[in-house]
Amino acid sequence: MPGLPRRVLLIGAAVGPLAACSLDTDKLIRPAHLPAAGQVLASTGDIPVGSGKVVADTVLTQPTAGVFKGFVARCTHAGCVLPDVSGDTINCPCHGSRFELDGAVARGPAILPLTPVAITVRGNEIVAG
Ligand code: FES
Repeated sequence: MPGLPRRVLLIGAAVGPLAACSLDTDKLIRPAHLPAAGQVLASTGDIPVGSGKVVADTVLTQPTAGVFKGFVARCTHAGCVLPDVSGDTINCPCHGSRFELDGAVARGPAILPLTPVAITVRGNEIVAG
């Protein structure tokens, strides 16, 4: 850019992404409220095979037909809310971590898998506990 000293451009390039990241992170970190044992979370038909859905503060997934998993909807990197499941990954909006449908880390910076939530399938319902 003509007219701007090279040093100003380099500082702006380094600080800009950090400033945007901290603003988003502040808005997305809040404690998770785990479901009470016996609470009905969803119908099995609501959770797509090969994907999942966030219900309140719980991520419910169905990696393969008839196999359901539950996780706390918080990223293990810095605790941001995991808002939804996109296709076959659970994506954190804060710093880009991605998790597989079984909770394993698909891409960092997170290094720990998602925290499991105990769930049980009763008939057509997915129940906490
Ligand atoms: S909180 Fe940093 S990637 Fe999720």
